[in-house]
Amino acid sequence: MTLYHFTLNGTPVEAEAEPTQSLLEILRTQFKIISVKSACAPQGQCGACLALIDGVPRTSCSLAMGKIEGKKILTLEGVSEEERALYAQAFQKAAGMQCGFCTPGLVLRIKWLTDRARPMSRQEIAEALNGHVCRCTGYVKIIDAVELIYAAKHGGQPLDAPTEQGRVGDPLGRYQGMALALGQRPFVADLDVPGLLHGALTLSPHARARVISIDTSKAAALPGVIRVATAKDVPGDRWVGLIYKDWPCFVAEGEEVRYVGDVLAAVAAETPQIARAAAKLVEVEYAPLPPVLDPAEAIKPGAPQVNPKHDNVLSRSILQRGDVDAALATSTHVVSGTWRTQRVEHMFLEPEAALAMPLDDGRIHLYTQGQGIFEDRHQVASVLGEPEANVYVELVPNGGAFGGKEDMTVQAQTALLARLIGRPVRIELTREESVRMHPKRHPMTMDYTVGCDAEGRLTAARVYVLGDSGAYASVGGKVLERAGGHACGAYRIPVIDIEAVAAYTNNPPCGAMRGFGVNQTNFAIEGCLDLLAKKVGIDGWEMRWRNGIRVGDMFSSGQILEKSVGLERTLLAVKDSYYEAKAAGRAVGIACGVKNCGLGNGAIERGYCQMVVEADGSIGLYSGFTEMGQGLMTIIIQFAVEVTGLPPSVFRPQINSRFELAGGATTGSRGTLLAGRATIDAAQKLKADLDAGKTLADLVGRSYAGETIIDDTTALGQTKNGKIKTHTTFGWASQVVVLNEEGAVDFVHSAQDVGRIINPQQCEGQLEGAIHMGLGYALTEELPCKDGMPVAYTMRDLGILRAKHMPRVKITLVEENEPEGPFGAKGIGELGLVPTPSALAGALEAFDGTRHVSLPMRDSPAARAIDVGHLDDAERDQWH
Ligand code: FES
Repeated sequence: MTLYHFTLNGTPVEAEAEPTQSLLEILRTQFKIISVKSACAPQGQCGACLALIDGVPRTSCSLAMGKIEGKKILTLEGVSEEERALYAQAFQKAAGMQCGFCTPGLVLRIKWLTDRARPMSRQEIAEALNGHVCRCTGYVKIIDAVELIYAAKHGGQPLDAPTEQGRVGDPLGRYQGMALALGQRPFVADLDVPGLLHGALTLSPHARARVISIDTSKAAALPGVIRVATAKDVPGDRWVGLIYKDWPCFVAEGEEVRYVGDVLAAVAAETPQIARAAAKLVEVEYAPLPPVLDPAEAIKPGAPQVNPKHDNVLSRSILQRGDVDAALATSTHVVSGTWRTQRVEHMFLEPEAALAMPLDDGRIHLYTQGQGIFEDRHQVASVLGEPEANVYVELVPNGGAFGGKEDMTVQAQTALLARLIGRPVRIELTREESVRMHPKRHPMTMDYTVGCDAEGRLTAARVYVLGDSGAYASVGGKVLERAGGHACGAYRIPVIDIEAVAAYTNNPPCGAMRGFGVNQTNFAIEGCLDLLAKKVGIDGWEMRWRNGIRVGDMFSSGQILEKSVGLERTLLAVKDSYYEAKAAGRAVGIACGVKNCGLGNGAIERGYCQMVVEADGSIGLYSGFTEMGQGLMTIIIQFAVEVTGLPPSVFRPQINSRFELAGGATTGSRGTLLAGRATIDAAQKLKADLDAGKTLADLVGRSYAGETIIDDTTALGQTKNGKIKTHTTFGWASQVVVLNEEGAVDFVHSAQDVGRIINPQQCEGQLEGAIHMGLGYALTEELPCKDGMPVAYTMRDLGILRAKHMPRVKITLVEENEPEGPFGAKGIGELGLVPTPSALAGALEAFDGTRHVSLPMRDSPAARAIDVGHLDDAERDQWH
């Protein structure tokens, strides 16, 4: 250890550290500076940990303590209150943050940038933010915030105060947004509790191997180690899982490891460094086995069974209507082909973390960032072998999830260590561990044959989809069900034969990711439409106009759509963008998209809310749904305001198990629908008391329960009361992508039917962020594995786009009232990126005649124009 002297936020300080320890670690642990976030450490690639070192922006995760002697370090905590207020207010006003995990780092960079009195174009600002990654916003509104800040600092244009209006349709600022922008609203890793121990995991280096023995003696003997836990220490059921309990939270001796994120042991120690060192000292003897890596091979008879709980066909979803052979035989035009999509990493900015704390009453308090706190509680209690009432679970709104935090990663191991030791324990994953552990977006292979008549009207489709679901079920079967159920996209196709299969392999599990299987089949069906349009001799817009679903038409699943189908209006909204680009001789592509809201497919879905009038005059707004940057807490406040007429500042959303509010995970664009309806129900009861002349002071202690249920959807191939209704509602979208003269993406126009706009800026922000993710998916993002192990972990290698890579974006929000939605709204979180790769594929074909049928479209001028995501290809033939 060395004693270092430096100035921190204007105060001379000293710190003992190893020369190789990062400044980030020391700032966070010794000085409790939480505006610097650990997102990609030690990569230094995302900017979330930014500090100013002698006035220069540096990533503190990649800066060794050995280099900071005598330096002046500034973090957001050291910026004047007046400036801090300006930055936070600008981000609130511009809706420049969603999850907020990236925001404090950006704010500090923007302070540095705007301290200089040089005006900048939006492109220059984007270039200046190149050291930062935001996975949520698409950067558009971040740049808006920079412009506001610059104008206030140098143009004397004071910022208006944020709106106090919070009714439906108002641009209410994000709940807790001021604190979030400055990094002061804690995430799990920021929580500080007395006596906290730190955990680390021992993961499998093999995708498939038999575990001969696990020896923890060396790890346990390391000074500072408090406890090492393995499968032998689990008092309850080791197997967890959202649908099938097929995933052991610890792999036991004698069993097989099934992927490279399997956990063999968990260590708790006095410091994170000791815990990590001890996790490396756990000695596991393996007998390696040949991994099953190809899903097509995995489902052949005789293939080794990957998971002991299920054969290798995790699910098979079938939809058949009419005689496809006959319909194709009589079609004027038929196209066939195989489309392929890649495995993709969510790359939410905040890596997984959990904190578990024994309470005096014997319960465990679990702080989670999961997408379903009651699902986490259920599984953790099962692992502990205790009743669910023994686990008090609380959401710490997370730093992004996009589906990747639906399954548990560290919750069970953290709770077990806390229970075994009787002290609070936190486990935080590194970026590399995060990439290894949580389920990904499915790679899919899709064989399509689609026909149409002489006018281009679609006649029939034969579709076979095979998805690599990896080692554990997660929700992979449902993802393939959704892929199959949306296989015809936003179009009428009267005759279909669709089969979608999810296969177990020894690759990383695949599960939920924004779009939930629909993105993949959209890429294939939209490609078919483009190919057919060419044969018919009409353009892409006209082809979609002739086939797009309207009210009264049948969806792929057989559901006759009776309401709220805004596709036609979205097509009209982008029409000028499409034809103007064509007239200007630009390469342009177009695609439509559809995405269900709610689980549907026969699931009985519930949503709950509890409103409690507190003694301090606030109203607790209790819910079981997760805030992960999508803005759910803000819009449920708006629903409550709309009903009660009370100001937004009264409401305090809280997501914990104080009340039994288990309405399922926040997934499938269902949060707005279910939380919204339940909130309205509770708010109406409160409003009745207010209308009866009671004041909030009169009502202190009163609690109002809101509930909603959806029980009328049908499973694939089934009917209820003679009707098929696979989903409560759907979002509809059309997108146009225009390339520049070099073939790079220049402009994206996205029009989306959102039912009813609850918060215009947040709506736009969701769609802008989705375009960012959709363009990455189309061009640069991939997570290939070799022998089941990811070949890369860094944000640049995995192709996450930066601000400078974003094209000009235009958003058009279409309101097609959804009578079953809260105030007519429907979920919007996923659909925004569904059509993006397809529209881009059309534009690329228009540019150089190449029809791309595989994602990412690496070998394209649009991808070559982007300086991230270029993996070394030498071993590509060995990747899966
Ligand atoms: Fe930027 Fe979530 S708001 S990563």
